[in-house]
Amino acid sequence: MPLVPPYIESLRPYEAGRSIEEVQREFGLTRISKLASNENPLGPSPQATQAIARSLHSLNLYPRGMELRRVLAEKFDVKLENVIAGTGSEGIMSNIIRTFLCDEDEVLTTESAFIGFQVLAKSRGVTYRTVPYRDWQYDLTALASAINERTKIVYLANPNNPTGTIFSKQEFDEFYKHVPERVLIILDEAYFEYAKDNPRYPDSMHYRYDNVITLRTFSKIYGLAGVRIGYGFAHERLIGNLLKVKLPFEPSTLAEVAGIAALDDKEFLHRSLEVNARGLQLLTRSFREMGMTVVPSEANFVMLVLANAEQASQLVRELLMQGIIVRPLASFGLANCVRISTGTDEDNQRCVEAMSKLAAAV
Ligand SMILES: Cc1ncc(COP(=O)(O)O)c(C=O)c1O
Repeated sequence: MPLVPPYIESLRPYEAGRSIEEVQREFGLTRISKLASNENPLGPSPQATQAIARSLHSLNLYPRGMELRRVLAEKFDVKLENVIAGTGSEGIMSNIIRTFLCDEDEVLTTESAFIGFQVLAKSRGVTYRTVPYRDWQYDLTALASAINERTKIVYLANPNNPTGTIFSKQEFDEFYKHVPERVLIILDEAYFEYAKDNPRYPDSMHYRYDNVITLRTFSKIYGLAGVRIGYGFAHERLIGNLLKVKLPFEPSTLAEVAGIAALDDKEFLHRSLEVNARGLQLLTRSFREMGMTVVPSEANFVMLVLANAEQASQLVRELLMQGIIVRPLASFGLANCVRISTGTDEDNQRCVEAMSKLAAAV
């Protein structure tokens, strides 16, 4: 047996979007709009940063790790035993993979699923199977038929990254009828807050099933991606086993206090939703007017579908040269697509202007 297992050796590491400093250096630019990682363009929740500042004096102590769970249990009207908090929702995903997967199990999801999940699942060395999108939506009927006796985890993101599409409660219910109880469904709702007011969007906290774990995050609407704090809800048997496996002192003290404070920061949440709604509308409408294919999004980004991989990478490069960082999706498995996050009103305007210059040049 080699020192490094073949499934690790062949794994492509997670590629994050390019940083502002990197692009400034490479292209000698001063003004950069980073629209590549679905971050909150308004910065972090001010209440969260104040809470972090207030708790700095106690950093010599190990985290207690219960308070955020308690606050979430109360807010969502569930028992403490149904709640987990972790190092981002990806931290919890990683624990799910370590806790529930055995060597012979299989993971099932859509093609080109969120790259973070792909990397985590493949790093476990189990069989990873996918079903193609139908019109850039999860094909829940095909996913249900693809479940076999070895399927252990089905991963669904709603809204989905990178397409931004959602599925409805009826679609989920129909799918759920075909899922055996021994299969764990990860319902990743990282972009829940952006979609929650759409009547087609189901809030999974209103319907709980014993084999479904809902994951949410403070990284997006609350602007705390750098703090690494996420949470999840599930049956106590699932949470109890996850708690055995997670690192004893995650999440960190700062992450926990930031999360608690952010939940109360209604004003910031409101402003963040408004700037995103304006951004989605502007980007979608403007790119369509330029003749581009834009997938309708319920999250904080839009996906553009180009004719081929060369056009997509050329677009990414040319926007970069104008100081706009967007996300190529080849690493997700969609080489002809590009994802653009919403930014501040000014960022969005710059992006549209940069794009129309490119469109005019063709
Ligand atoms: C669908 C989805 N899930 C999870 C995450 C990761 O969230 P976190 O920062 O909480 O680990 C992301 C981040 O981009 C995402 O798009």
